[in-house]
Amino acid sequence: MNQLQVLPMQKGWIYEAIISTFSKGEPHAAPIGVWTEDFDTLHMEIFDSSQTLRGILDTGRFVANFPSDVGTLHTALFHPELLSFERSQDASAPVLLGSAATVELVLRQAMPVAERVRITGTVVRASARAEIKLINRAAGLLVESLILATRLRYLDAAAVRESLAENYRVIRKVAPGSTCETTMAELLRDIDLPS
Ligand SMILES: Cc1cc2nc3c(=O)[nH]c(=O)nc-3n(C[C@H](O)[C@H](O)[C@H](O)COP(=O)(O)O)c2cc1C
Repeated sequence: MNQLQVLPMQKGWIYEAIISTFSKGEPHAAPIGVWTEDFDTLHMEIFDSSQTLRGILDTGRFVANFPSDVGTLHTALFHPELLSFERSQDASAPVLLGSAATVELVLRQAMPVAERVRITGTVVRASARAEIKLINRAAGLLVESLILATRLRYLDAAAVRESLAENYRVIRKVAPGSTCETTMAELLRDIDLPS
């Protein structure tokens, strides 16, 4: 139980993973944001058109691979031929080699939500390296927002404010209750933008 506690995850925060599954018998992988509410299941929302979604629905088995660097997200999207896989312990899904953490999942629920399907997977096995750092977008967005705020008076103010408001929306979505969220709210107040 609570197998996801081997990963440094916060409840409700969204982390960037590479979801792998067999699609027409071949390993297939794509970056997808995942989160947990109970440390026993992982949730994700995947666009209808996705080959990854098709593989999950066809096989009922998939793996959340947490990369050690952002470059692997790029490789998965644009150079998938460079990815290497091994089979999961029961051979039902491909596991991405070189990941900082691996979570094997069995499909529990697939629920349509506006052009996407919300997938819930029950954790079968989870392992993580000791010094793992998960990828969450909030810190990067806060850094970008701070830089943008320093440019407010030199750039088109309306466009900067729109970008900051969007960054705040995403920070609240991917890291609810975080210090990034409170710092971002403070920043918007400091520059007189309602949060
Ligand atoms: C960091 C990152 C996060 C992503 N998160 C999602 C997601 O949560 N859901 C989704 O459907 N697509 C997401 N995508 C886009 C998919 O990876 C992309 O559409 C991919 O081409 C789907 O590939 P497929 O058709 O091979 O499954 C994300 C992309 C990146 C780079």
